[in-house]
Amino acid sequence: MSGKDQLTEIISSDAIQHRIKELGQQITQDYKGRPLVMIGILKGAFIFLADLCRAVEIDMEIDFVRLHSYGSGMESDGKVRITKDIELDISGKDVIVVEDIVDTGYTLEYLIEVLKLHKPASVKICCLIDKKERRKVDVQVDYVGFDVKKGFLVGYGLDYDERYRHLPAIYHLVPGYEPEGYCPSDR
Ligand code: IMP
Ligand code: MG
Repeated sequence: MSGKDQLTEIISSDAIQHRIKELGQQITQDYKGRPLVMIGILKGAFIFLADLCRAVEIDMEIDFVRLHSYGSGMESDGKVRITKDIELDISGKDVIVVEDIVDTGYTLEYLIEVLKLHKPASVKICCLIDKKERRKVDVQVDYVGFDVKKGFLVGYGLDYDERYRHLPAIYHLVPGYEPEGYCPSDR
């Protein structure tokens, strides 16, 4: 096999934008008159949150957390830690955690527990992609952009070893393998 990663588009940029408008309308209806805080999980959710918050037509505050759950590969080891905490006071407020993709569920299970210590009025989850079939722990996702059965995905914030986040659509990735006698200058 060649050293090049294979990318196949599975969700177009137009489909993503259309679905985000729908999610935005739903959240607008559900949270009217309530003190909403959207918390994005860095880095993967930065593009999704940027588009989603502009599709929600109510006042809100925005914050970010950074969690480390994956190494540079494609599998979770189940260990999660916070490397950047929230900075806003969320006590008594309604929180929506914005995540790019829920896979095993370890990341969100951990984050929800930590956020609850701050005594928010409520915590819900909005993710762009739900990979339900790989779930290891039970987390309830309240707003889902797309269900995807399997595969490793990149684009629209999602990375493989920090690459491909900038792509406007979502792609299925089959990583390339370096052929025998591979020389880095071939790239
Ligand atoms: P979980 O803890 O297994 O649910 O994984 C959550 C995190 O793993 C997500 O926030 C993503 O950053 C990353 N992840 C899971 N699946 C994928 C994928 O298909 N592509 C890129 N990142 C992924
Ligand atoms: Mg990631």
